Amino acid sequence: MARGKQIYEGKAKILYEGPEPGTLIQFFKDDATAFNNQKHSVLEGKGVLNNRISEFVMLGLERIGIPTHFIKRINMREQLIRHVEIIPLEVVVRNVAAGSICKRLGIKEGEALPRSVVEFYYKDDKLGDPMVGEDHITAWGWASPQEIDDMMAYALRVNDYLSGLFATAHIRLIDFKLEFGRQYEGDLVRLILADEISPDGCRLWDLESGEIMDKDRFRRDLGDVVEGYREVARRLGILRNDEEPKDNGKGPKLVSSNGESTS
Ligand code: TMP
Ligand code: ASP
Repeated sequence: MARGKQIYEGKAKILYEGPEPGTLIQFFKDDATAFNNQKHSVLEGKGVLNNRISEFVMLGLERIGIPTHFIKRINMREQLIRHVEIIPLEVVVRNVAAGSICKRLGIKEGEALPRSVVEFYYKDDKLGDPMVGEDHITAWGWASPQEIDDMMAYALRVNDYLSGLFATAHIRLIDFKLEFGRQYEGDLVRLILADEISPDGCRLWDLESGEIMDKDRFRRDLGDVVEGYREVARRLGILRNDEEPKDNGKGPKLVSSNGESTS
């Protein structure tokens, strides 16, 4: 599939014009950043794994009626997506205390929260993505009250779905980040889930040992970052157990949902 001109380059992905109006091609890079770009590395094979994990999760969410930007995976690193206007908010759902909430509220890492909580952060690298409340969001017009309600409702449904999905893979979903966008269809505006859902934006711990399988391996210099992501893919049934993954000699070997090799 021919990709058009590059329209955006982020820390972990590049967006190109797609083959049809209203579509884009999302390319997954191997770059990993943390602490607002202060820490950077190239982790060979990460992009291939995130492409495939995000495809798997987005397809599952579509099946339970959550609209997403995902159309189809094109190859090991690219997927065709719907062009949306990104809402400049990161929507974080937390089940267990980890990361910034521990410092902010003085809670011990690993403590279960009284219930799942949804938080909003304003997407602005220069400001370090500050946490914001609903009043800031509506005062500055980043999203309408209806969009806030819809994002919260979708985020909690995604949390229920993902918590179950990961639990069957023997993984505890600690927290995760979502992004939403507006899709314009004539006079209609539709809120849909955008970006990616992958170990880059989730905290995933082994159900028994608590071993970290997500980007905290990179943030905390624990090593074997890609191996953690690969184990997530294996447990979800995306990657064959016996395989040392390669893409053109570098990167994971992946299987389709019916177990056939796709590379
Ligand atoms: P936090 O504990 O650092 O606030 O992160 C909460 C969740 O959001 C965690 O799963 C990591 C994810 N996240 C991102 O995907 N991008 C970001 O820029 C940040 C700060 C967090
Ligand atoms: N993605 C953010 C960054 O690159 C923060 C993070 O995920 O820790 O800086």
